[in-house]
Amino acid sequence: MRAACAAEFGWNHAAASRCFCIGAAFLLAGDILFDELKSELDSIMARDPAARSRLEVYFLYSGFKAVRSYRLANWFFRHNMKFIARMISQRARHTTGIEIHPGATIGKGLFIDHGMGVVIGETAEIGDNCTIYQGVTLGGTGKDQGKRHPTLGNNVLVGSGAKVLGPFRVGDNARIAAGAVVLKEVPDNATAVGVPAKIVKLNGEKVVSPSESLDQIHYSDPVEEQLNQLTEKVEDLRNAFETFENGAGI
Ligand SMILES: CC(C)(COP(=O)(O)OP(=O)(O)OC[C@H]1O[C@@H](n2cnc3c(N)ncnc32)[C@H](O)[C@@H]1OP(=O)(O)O)[C@@H](O)C(=O)NCCC(=O)NCCS
Repeated sequence: MRAACAAEFGWNHAAASRCFCIGAAFLLAGDILFDELKSELDSIMARDPAARSRLEVYFLYSGFKAVRSYRLANWFFRHNMKFIARMISQRARHTTGIEIHPGATIGKGLFIDHGMGVVIGETAEIGDNCTIYQGVTLGGTGKDQGKRHPTLGNNVLVGSGAKVLGPFRVGDNARIAAGAVVLKEVPDNATAVGVPAKIVKLNGEKVVSPSESLDQIHYSDPVEEQLNQLTEKVEDLRNAFETFENGAGI
């Protein structure tokens, strides 16, 4: 091949070798990128029953577009071209309604469904295969410096309108209910609901709070308990007295 190029275009051997290497690198990179793209499209199709084809997801899903733009912006951010990075992310926000800071760290297979109103902060971290619905904020409380935004583990679901605020971790397979406001760490395999969010399920089991588990009907009567104790004491005294009477021969 290299010899053919050299003969055809009159290149010397070194130039033909260089061209060959660059071409091979492009083909390899294209192959890797295509595989990555395909697996992202497939992971969205697997999670959205409304998605009918990869083509539909590629061209019409704003969440998919926002994540692709983020990957580009993140590259510029990591290579110290922060202005270009912010420019790309702001343009994506304009077209999709989803604002992902280019400094955020996002794993594979993030699916942002519907998307409008999603905000992902600069120090947020998202594991693999997470699902985020419209109106979600992964933000800060305004009280922290440095790491200010949450870290989501793998396979986390964040329901529509939920706000996750602060630099804590949301564990693997956790589910944040629609409309929840999460201000504290969420363990692995937990479901958090409400404002402020509370853990209502852990490892598939319902979590019962002390106030819920308190039985206010079948509790013991304290007066009856005291009377029982007094009756027992009187009985003991009578037995002791009888023993004394018999021993003394009275
Ligand atoms: C939380 C959620 C993920 C379900 O998780 P789950 O682990 O299967 O939890 P369950 O459905 O068993 O619910 C557990 C408890 O939380 C309550 N709960 C569920 N979602 C809730 C919500 N959004 N707000 C308040 N309470 C909620 C349930 O009523 C249930 O309470 P109970 O035990 O007293 O009956 C789901 O309800 C949810 O909010 N999904 C978000 C989906 C979404 O945003 N869709 C938008 C599509 S456009």
